[in-house]
Amino acid sequence: MDSGWAPPHWEGPGLYAVPGQGGTLPGQGDGGHDRIGQERRLPSRSGSFAGGTGAWLERLGGLRNFVRQELVARQLAEQLAGRHAQRVLDIGCGQGTQALRLARAGHYVTGIDSDPVALGVAQGALAEEPPEVRGRLQLLSGDGHQCGRWFGPRSFDVVLCHGVLMYLPDPDPMIASLARLLAPGGLLSLLVRNRDALALRPAAAGDWRAALHAFESDRYYNRLGLAARADRLADLTVTLSEVSVPLRHWYGVRVFTDNAPDDAAPPVDGRQLAQLLEAEDRAARTDPYRQVAALLHVVGAK
Ligand SMILES: C[S@@+](CC[C@H](N)C(=O)[O-])C[C@H]1O[C@@H](n2cnc3c(N)ncnc32)[C@H](O)[C@@H]1O
Repeated sequence: MDSGWAPPHWEGPGLYAVPGQGGTLPGQGDGGHDRIGQERRLPSRSGSFAGGTGAWLERLGGLRNFVRQELVARQLAEQLAGRHAQRVLDIGCGQGTQALRLARAGHYVTGIDSDPVALGVAQGALAEEPPEVRGRLQLLSGDGHQCGRWFGPRSFDVVLCHGVLMYLPDPDPMIASLARLLAPGGLLSLLVRNRDALALRPAAAGDWRAALHAFESDRYYNRLGLAARADRLADLTVTLSEVSVPLRHWYGVRVFTDNAPDDAAPPVDGRQLAQLLEAEDRAARTDPYRQVAALLHVVGAK
């Protein structure tokens, strides 16, 4: 049972209330188009995730997201090997895929997201879990930037920030505030768009203007149609050293399947699926493949 565990002291927004069931999720069915290749101004600023939630949730079962979540889960399991009942904070937990997996694995997880629709999906999934898992995951509504005001320093053993930094104009303040929340020996897990491979996706789509832009800029439009920003491993390595959470390990995520269509589903043949994941898993940890992955999973240790 879970006696003995209490969530870290919480002075921020209240516990998220489960919204009413039914109806269409706001944003579903619009904004889900891939704008790569359309003639328009290329972004000079990153934006925010607002407006992307509907398309993001619609595609959760697709091949691209499936590969992303499976790879990240394997990599996290590797990094957390030998660590039990960790206090985990998942900033921008969204639909809660990784938060739920970690709670099932016995960790005590706080998931925070600023989007009520994404949190509602996470809450719905959590409601399906057995009581002991439900007791290990709390979902909270709030802006990750405020975490330092809600939680004391060294409150968590593991902090995740996946798919969030690309929507911030500068990742460093968020990384610094998350680093302060880590206990000594704690792990910081970041999932970012890989700037060193930014031209590959538009080039594969035949959008040469965007491909050329990618050599000059860290700004791009993602497959949700949102203005976003990419990070270089070298820059993150410097930032992590500066906040005393030096780089421990890094992986690529989605080397072979990044250019799959948005509506491509994972193979139904179990053997094919296992081989696909094995190939992505090998590429994720092998040079030079991992260097050109669409996403980088960067892990620092305090
Ligand atoms: C691309 S989704 C990723 C969800 C999840 N982390 C994953 O990797 O599957 C990004 C999520 O981050 C949330 N988000 C973006 N900026 C945030 C912020 N400043 N504070 C809290 N959540 C944020 C969005 O609402 C969205 O649910």
